[in-house]
Amino acid sequence: MHSPDTSAGRSGCPIDHTSPAGCPVTERAAAFDPFEDEYQQDPPEYLRWSREQEPIFFSPKLGYWVVTRYDDIKAIFRDNITFSPSIALEKITPTGEEANAVLSSYNYAMNRTLVNEDEPAHMARRRVLMEPFTPEALKHHEPMVRQLAREYVDRFIDDGQADLVDQMLWEVPLTVALHFLGVPEEDMDLLRKYSIAHTVNTWGRPKPEEQVAVAHAVGNFWQLAGKILEKMRLDPSGPGWMKYGIRKQADYPDVVTDSYLHSMMMAGIVAAHETTANAAANALKILLQHPTAWREICEDPSLLPNAVEECLRHNGSVAAWRRLVTKDVRIGGIDIAAGSKLLIVMSSANHDERHFEDPDLVDIRRDNSSEHLTFGYGAHQCMGKNLARMELQIFLEELTKRLPHMRLCEQKFTYVPNTSFRGPEHVRVEWDPALNPERANPQLLDTNSPVRIGEPSRHAISRSVVVAGMTKLTEDIVRLRLTSPDGRALPRWMPGAHVDVECGSPDMSRQYSLCGDPDDTQGLEIAVLRESDSRGGSVWIHDNLKVGDRLKIRGPRNHFRFDESVKRAIFVAGGIGITPIIAMALRAKRLGIDYEIHYSGRARKTMACVDELLDIHDGRLHVYAKDEGRRCDLTALLATPMADTAIYACGPTRMLESLESCCAAWPDDAVRFEHFYSTIGTLDPAKEHAFEAELKDSGIVITVAADQTLLAALRAANIDVQSDCLEGLCGSCEVRVLSGQVDHRDVVLTRAERDESSKMMSCCSRAVGGKLVLEL
Ligand code: HEM
Ligand code: FES
Repeated sequence: MHSPDTSAGRSGCPIDHTSPAGCPVTERAAAFDPFEDEYQQDPPEYLRWSREQEPIFFSPKLGYWVVTRYDDIKAIFRDNITFSPSIALEKITPTGEEANAVLSSYNYAMNRTLVNEDEPAHMARRRVLMEPFTPEALKHHEPMVRQLAREYVDRFIDDGQADLVDQMLWEVPLTVALHFLGVPEEDMDLLRKYSIAHTVNTWGRPKPEEQVAVAHAVGNFWQLAGKILEKMRLDPSGPGWMKYGIRKQADYPDVVTDSYLHSMMMAGIVAAHETTANAAANALKILLQHPTAWREICEDPSLLPNAVEECLRHNGSVAAWRRLVTKDVRIGGIDIAAGSKLLIVMSSANHDERHFEDPDLVDIRRDNSSEHLTFGYGAHQCMGKNLARMELQIFLEELTKRLPHMRLCEQKFTYVPNTSFRGPEHVRVEWDPALNPERANPQLLDTNSPVRIGEPSRHAISRSVVVAGMTKLTEDIVRLRLTSPDGRALPRWMPGAHVDVECGSPDMSRQYSLCGDPDDTQGLEIAVLRESDSRGGSVWIHDNLKVGDRLKIRGPRNHFRFDESVKRAIFVAGGIGITPIIAMALRAKRLGIDYEIHYSGRARKTMACVDELLDIHDGRLHVYAKDEGRRCDLTALLATPMADTAIYACGPTRMLESLESCCAAWPDDAVRFEHFYSTIGTLDPAKEHAFEAELKDSGIVITVAADQTLLAALRAANIDVQSDCLEGLCGSCEVRVLSGQVDHRDVVLTRAERDESSKMMSCCSRAVGGKLVLEL
């Protein structure tokens, strides 16, 4: 605990210091300072202690509550009414009177744009201004981005060394941003200087002696933005988002106001420029620091789109964002009063092991990299995300193609002190120009990889492994040990995780729970039951695979996470459903959690790992072999709900259904199931009908064709909904339903949830009738 220090907090500690318990702010919370170099260098590492011990804490130095875990931050983004974005562009360091007077002398009146606008004004404006961001509209910018990237690399390709930030990554995104906004290219140098000043003014901590100079630059930026806008108003025809806004003002004067246009003219340049320039510098730095990943994308450009997402996750350019709490609320078990300010640190969320397996690893094949929160989430999620993705893919493609042999020079990376915008000021690289591949092969420059927007391709996230061992566990069950072909470490995982295994062809992919030791990074283990009458994947493994063969897998990923905070766990497994339970029970034992395992099967000799489990778990394991006359009485076992107890079950559908009815009296979140697989096949348009989905928040109506999923139709309309399994297994594509009857086809929702019809899985479920109304 730190001692009450009245000088510490600008806005004061919100806790009653007169209470006998003293100030509850811990030492680490008191020491938190996002302007310190340690935060700049590595925000997620700097906040590791918080994610682990104190995920929401009050920072007296900042006067903000700081939030660091993935789920809490996502929940905050999701609810932009309780957590207003109105302070997103407010100065984080209040300036002195002199600087304020300077700003007034320029009639500086930066106001609401989109990112700091509340509802209902925000959605109305976002809707009117969205069209230039749709994937269709963005395609027109691709040649311009490619040409710029090519020209800038041309300038230094024969030099053997470059500062990528100074010589490319800063200016190209600025020029792209100006094109996108429709601004003439003149005054670029001036704009560059001003935009940095704006960032320092808003998210930085200028020293008192710097504040006046910053204020002049910001004032000038404001006036220049006004002049450019006036120029555009004279002829608002032609391409460009700002011109589009001016044209829309004629139809919607109350939505696209003068104040909005002037403020956005300035904020838009920063939104589109610095974010992307920093993201590119961060990406180059992290990839060159991981030479294997760099080499892989040099050799296989189809890996680029996912590598971009992984860089945005691992080393994002918007480290944190802000929200204002509008009513008393509880976040992650902490009461937060209305009027409190939140600093939500997305770069910490992006390293939360509760959401990302082995989060500190740079894994360009990670299959949920795109779930990072670097673009925010929900109603305000970055509108320019697909433009940024396009730029990053093209920059990386150009550099990997033309300078695969470049490496980082010895250097210390420096950052401008700032809570939110983060990227190294310089990235110095060197190479031997004599080895430039285009000298030997000029045709190299003629081929481009397609830019991919949205979900990564399956190929891009699959990894090759070698079958290092095959052990027969029973007549029909074989355990496989999979290692990486070059002996490198594989990602760590958490109990409950699975991998997707390509069984002979990319179209035949099956999920298998990992059943080895989660900390063993040298190998992944799965157990496969031969199921002759199912879809053929397991038979292929049993009949074709041998030690030394190569396999393609995806993952590990986890839809069946073990909650390590429970006091007691009841594990119920049927047959091969024991596999995820093996790792979970081992973890429960290591953590000292009270647990029991109930494992049923047809006959003891058909049940995998019984002896091994008896050795480890002894009295906690109950084995029910039908041929020995023993059956697990689920009704008796689960008759009375127990406090602080979670049930984890995996097994055949019949067992899970009966377990679900036995658990009717248990709280919903106490019971977690893992299904082996879903029965969803490909859509058969002959059997489906088209329906309409009205999106209440966005005010648009989309048609979901008979051969299309709701998820695909939403994406085509530029509405971001996350997804993972695409088979109704994982729950990540859930959307809220306000009215209409749902034809549920997932295996995630409970029966009660289906009957209620207030949510649905957009990757597979459809409308019974002609229309659904969704909260999107
Ligand atoms: C909003 C990040 C590039 C335009 C945002 C937000 C973040 C963000 C964190 C706030 C999200 C929220 O409150 O939920 C980024 C990053 C970028 C990037 C990391 C680059 C890697 C761009 C580009 C543009 C752009 C290229 C193009 C103009 C916008 C706009 C909003 C926004 C208009 C406001 C959306 C709204 O409030 O409805 N961005 N951005 N961004 N961004 Fe980006
Ligand atoms: Fe997994 Fe839809 S994406 S349930």
